[in-house]
Amino acid sequence: MKHKVKDMSLAEKGKLQIAWAESRMPVLMKIREEFKKKKPFKDLTIGVALHVTKETAVLVKTLKAGGATVALAAANPLSTQDDVAAALVEEGINVFAWAGESSEEYYWCMNQVLDFEPNITLDDGADLVNTIHTKHPELIKKVFGGQEETTTGVIRLRAMAKDGALKYPMFAINDTPTKGMFDNIYGTGQSTIDGILRATSIMIAGKTFVVCGYGRCGYGLSNRARGMGANVIVTEVEPVKALQAVMDGFRVMPLKEAVKLGDIFITITGDRDVIRKEHMELMKDGAIIGNTGHFNVEINLQDLESLSEKKREIRRHVEEHTLKNGKKIYLLGKGRIINLVAAEGHPSDVMDMSFADHALCCEYLVKNHEKLKPDVYNVPKEIDDRVAQLKLESMEIEIDNLTEKQKKYLTDWKEGT
Ligand SMILES: NC(=O)c1ccc[n+]([C@@H]2O[C@H](COP(=O)([O-])OP(=O)(O)OC[C@H]3O[C@@H](n4cnc5c(N)ncnc54)[C@H](O)[C@@H]3O)[C@@H](O)[C@H]2O)c1
Repeated sequence: MKHKVKDMSLAEKGKLQIAWAESRMPVLMKIREEFKKKKPFKDLTIGVALHVTKETAVLVKTLKAGGATVALAAANPLSTQDDVAAALVEEGINVFAWAGESSEEYYWCMNQVLDFEPNITLDDGADLVNTIHTKHPELIKKVFGGQEETTTGVIRLRAMAKDGALKYPMFAINDTPTKGMFDNIYGTGQSTIDGILRATSIMIAGKTFVVCGYGRCGYGLSNRARGMGANVIVTEVEPVKALQAVMDGFRVMPLKEAVKLGDIFITITGDRDVIRKEHMELMKDGAIIGNTGHFNVEINLQDLESLSEKKREIRRHVEEHTLKNGKKIYLLGKGRIINLVAAEGHPSDVMDMSFADHALCCEYLVKNHEKLKPDVYNVPKEIDDRVAQLKLESMEIEIDNLTEKQKKYLTDWKEGT
């Protein structure tokens, strides 16, 4: 076993965190019991680059229970929970992750995972896949396939597939209903508010809260912010999404207008340079800006630096920038994914489904990889349906079943009025 984590004395605390997550993740725990018996990953290695949280711990322990050797690095330099990382080392996982990695250290950790020559790769943001394809193509022949957790990663993979650059099959976990309809909407909505509150401890009620991007995450965040009493403004670039936000009852306007009104600005677009110099210059004194999109490119940090006369860390995860125009702007979490930097990421309850999809897709890949060409695939519907059914069962919720007559009616084109 190999590892590099911050502090092994945190392991006991981390184990309790993982036990708490396990108590909230019944679907994944049920899959773990099956894997323990079936050992689908016997003699196989799974390379993982996910946020090292207590929920990821439940997933990697499940893969290990299925017989895999697991090597784990972080999907973001700031998102690792050091106690969880230490606990996982004691659980027999090869962990290379700590909170506050430099860019070089981040890629060093990723390369340690690749030294294990994985048969399956799990990614959140496609950095592992990218590193294999660009720096270690010799490893590709051993890889059955992989899985991608987030929107930004899937966008990168589809671009690779379009260019003919993707050399092994990848499942777009992000796009499957049991992930995207819950994790992106309710997970990001709640945990982003959690991150803002833990970083700032501000009152949300009565504030003007600007959400940049009204995709699944933006929809979730806007609704949660409204639920906390904020006056929400949405900015968008897609007419349909903008219209949806209007019909959902939000004010929609260009960011250049919103900056004059907003108290809190959160980017959640997967795009770059959403908040730029021209916007920062017009912001109110005391404006708070943060990002909950995957990469730290949504707020142009160079622009903020160039406008700032001085800066200081006024509290953990809050950087006070005093601009040359005398106004102050507060940057959260250095512009990195705030729900993971300042809080703990999504609640375990919702990661239960996202990571159950991962676990079952790993098993699917082992069984079916020879039939799959290099491309980006949707999660098979039977996996998605199974995860939803198991989640409902864990909540003791029953639903109706179609009668034979209904099944026929719903598939028959001949029946009219
Ligand atoms: N914080 C988290 O834990 C978490 C969880 C899931 C996804 N993500 C990340 O969040 C980002 C968004 O994910 P999603 O699933 O909502 O994607 P999405 O594609 O559903 O939505 C993104 C929206 O942003 C809009 N947009 C793009 N450029 C814009 C701009 N300049 N100004 C305003 N709007 C703009 C798009 O039109 C789109 O409607 C991705 O980077 C994704 O990887 C983060």
